[in-house]
Amino acid sequence: MRIAMIASEAAPYVKTGGLGDVMQALPGELAKQRGNEVVLILPLYKKLKEGKQFDLEPVGNFTMELSWRESYVGIFRLKSRRKKLQVYFIDNDYYFGARSTVYGDFDDGERFAYFSKAALAALYYLDFKPDVLHCHDWQAAMAVVYCKALYHSWCPGAKTVFTIHNVEYQGWANADFFDNTLGLPDPFRSVMTFDGAVNMMKGAIVSADMVTTVSRSYAQELCYPYYAHKLDDILRSNRLCGIVNGIDTTVYDPETDPALKHHYNAEDLEGKKACKLALQKEMGLDIRSDAPILAMVTRLAGHKGIDLLCYISQKLVQQNIQLVIVGTGEKQYEYALSVLAKENPGKVAVRLAFDPALASRVYAGADLYLMPSKSEPCGLSQLIAMRYGTVPVVAATGGLRDTVPPYNPETGEGRGFTFQSYNGDDFFGAIERAVKLYQEDRDAFTALAQRDMKEDFSWKVPAGEYQQLYKELLAE
Ligand code: GLC
Repeated sequence: MRIAMIASEAAPYVKTGGLGDVMQALPGELAKQRGNEVVLILPLYKKLKEGKQFDLEPVGNFTMELSWRESYVGIFRLKSRRKKLQVYFIDNDYYFGARSTVYGDFDDGERFAYFSKAALAALYYLDFKPDVLHCHDWQAAMAVVYCKALYHSWCPGAKTVFTIHNVEYQGWANADFFDNTLGLPDPFRSVMTFDGAVNMMKGAIVSADMVTTVSRSYAQELCYPYYAHKLDDILRSNRLCGIVNGIDTTVYDPETDPALKHHYNAEDLEGKKACKLALQKEMGLDIRSDAPILAMVTRLAGHKGIDLLCYISQKLVQQNIQLVIVGTGEKQYEYALSVLAKENPGKVAVRLAFDPALASRVYAGADLYLMPSKSEPCGLSQLIAMRYGTVPVVAATGGLRDTVPPYNPETGEGRGFTFQSYNGDDFFGAIERAVKLYQEDRDAFTALAQRDMKEDFSWKVPAGEYQQLYKELLAE
């Protein structure tokens, strides 16, 4: 089948978060399946346009209307293209090529409405008639709506799938955005309107043939106001299912990861011990093997549970543990954690940085990985941690609930340590249980880490589930 994927980011071209990882792996995995032809469409950001890292060639250009605007659309593609996966980039200097922001400009709504419409216009120009149009997050949401509104007669059989990676960002705009920017036929006014404003994610949810999100639990949670950021009613009355993400197990592999000096696998953990020692040296921690290293690599944002970590930090440093935090984010957390490190030299190390190579060394060198998120659509870090033999301690929410079943000391089943309600004491309780196992039954702890390493977190299974979903939709 012919699948068109539209998204605002995909590694290695551009990545600001987990969406970039998903878009790196999923299109490629689908292209591996017999009979699929996949295209991925991304904006041509300044860094890509000016950088020499990727060899791009122009394919064509035309102009397109966006309400009263007459906008330029250029199409570029990778020169070294693969047969069954083709990556295209939408070129427009005003919206993307001449400014360095990926997200966060005053006119993001207009930028990504333009991108979504241009992506469809590019498919038309390239004469790539998709069987499935699969759009991700609010930045590509309008492609679902434009497909229905403007391209239906061109590809009448196409099914649209919209995936929510994070419901917090919905693409809100003032009501006049509908006439001034979107330029859709009038019947779509009610589709796009929500709470007296324009909401692009809502438009995609009600227009798509299927809405998916990135874990089964998050799909259920999205039906409740606590998680859905106002969209619970809309999500309850539309078709919604959850497919848990995978990770690229060739990139995240402790046997080959170039960021590591020592390599290892589930059968032989000597290299992991060496990684722990190296991490202690690199981060200025005391060199010792009796204390587990607890680690977090994260955006320092409230909903990642950093508030819980700060709340329990004084109790935590009384334990026989070491703590490593890597990340950047909200100033109050950067400050609180820096103070914690200063007050506990040799025991707590904090790096305020976004550094993927250091992240790898932390995943490899740590014993326990903390992820106390308030909500987590899927979460990739816990999967990477397990792949590197670092046992997760997580809040039982969203994808964390689906991927980290609780460890049962009686049967030895489970993959990590969990807590149910979002509060510091329960989080601390889960850490205590994990540390206790590490200290009192190291063999059981190691066996748990080894089992986690052997789990298949690759994209094979989720890509198969998407393929199945597409098939079912096309058969309707
Ligand atoms: C978002 C979510 C994260 C998910 C990722 C990829 O970043 O917050 O939980 O893993 O998207 O789907």
